[in-house]
Amino acid sequence: MRTSLSALRKKLANGRKLSMLTCYDAGFARVLDEAGIDTLLIGDSLGMVVQGRDSTLPVTIQDIAYHTACVVRGAANAFVLADMPFGSYQESPAQALHNAVILMQAGAQMVKLEGGAEIAPSIELLTRSGIPVCGHIGLMPSHVHALGGFRVQGKETADADRIVADAQAVEAAGAAMLVIEAVPDAVARRVCNDTTLMTIGIGASAACDGQVLVLHDMLGLTHSPAKFVKNYMVDVSGGGDAVLQAARRYAQEVESGVFPGAEHVYGLTSGSVAGLYG
Ligand code: KIV
Ligand code: NA
Repeated sequence: MRTSLSALRKKLANGRKLSMLTCYDAGFARVLDEAGIDTLLIGDSLGMVVQGRDSTLPVTIQDIAYHTACVVRGAANAFVLADMPFGSYQESPAQALHNAVILMQAGAQMVKLEGGAEIAPSIELLTRSGIPVCGHIGLMPSHVHALGGFRVQGKETADADRIVADAQAVEAAGAAMLVIEAVPDAVARRVCNDTTLMTIGIGASAACDGQVLVLHDMLGLTHSPAKFVKNYMVDVSGGGDAVLQAARRYAQEVESGVFPGAEHVYGLTSGSVAGLYG
């Protein structure tokens, strides 16, 4: 039976953390489902890892809808979360609703939008329309050109304060879940403490309610992965089901809080350049 939002909440209430991986096709969806991954995210990262582009910006709502339908056909159990790509929601709440409907009709159970207080009216309309929403703050990859690169966010106190305020705005607008990407551990902990959202970290903190990684990163397919990536293919033995074993180990390590370790999170002060790799 397909996992519901309330089933995710129940798992958390029982003291187990939530595992999430990105997924873009039916073949991987079937294996990740068998491995017990709680949530499959059809991320706009597909622009980079599937389409070979150097950012997520060219990804369209049709791209996400297509891959969402593929994942839904492959996975019978996992909760399915789909990204709203760059330009598909920033114009107006009406535009956000129009495009979120496309993803829900493709089989998503929740949609994810990058942004803070400035997109609160859109989050409000979606949730009032019965569409569960996941926010995404910290490093927002669709802002890569404004940021001048993929960098750790929130190292300055003012930036950290803004990230916490944005998380609270996203919560007040009705979101149920929040991805926190590439911020110092201490900043992620503030977000976790100051909101009641289900928090999902990537380069954030072990204190989050769950973790997400890009599938290609955790399978060791990425040329120079960020510090927050753990390659789960390193320790699998040769049984012919290496991907299943890797995904299973990831699910277990997230559930029990073993991943992320100290080597996967950022400090507030380490390194003057807030790159993702150090
Ligand atoms: O697109 C994506 O893969 C994501 C995750 C990194 C959270 O948004
Ligand atoms: Na994304």
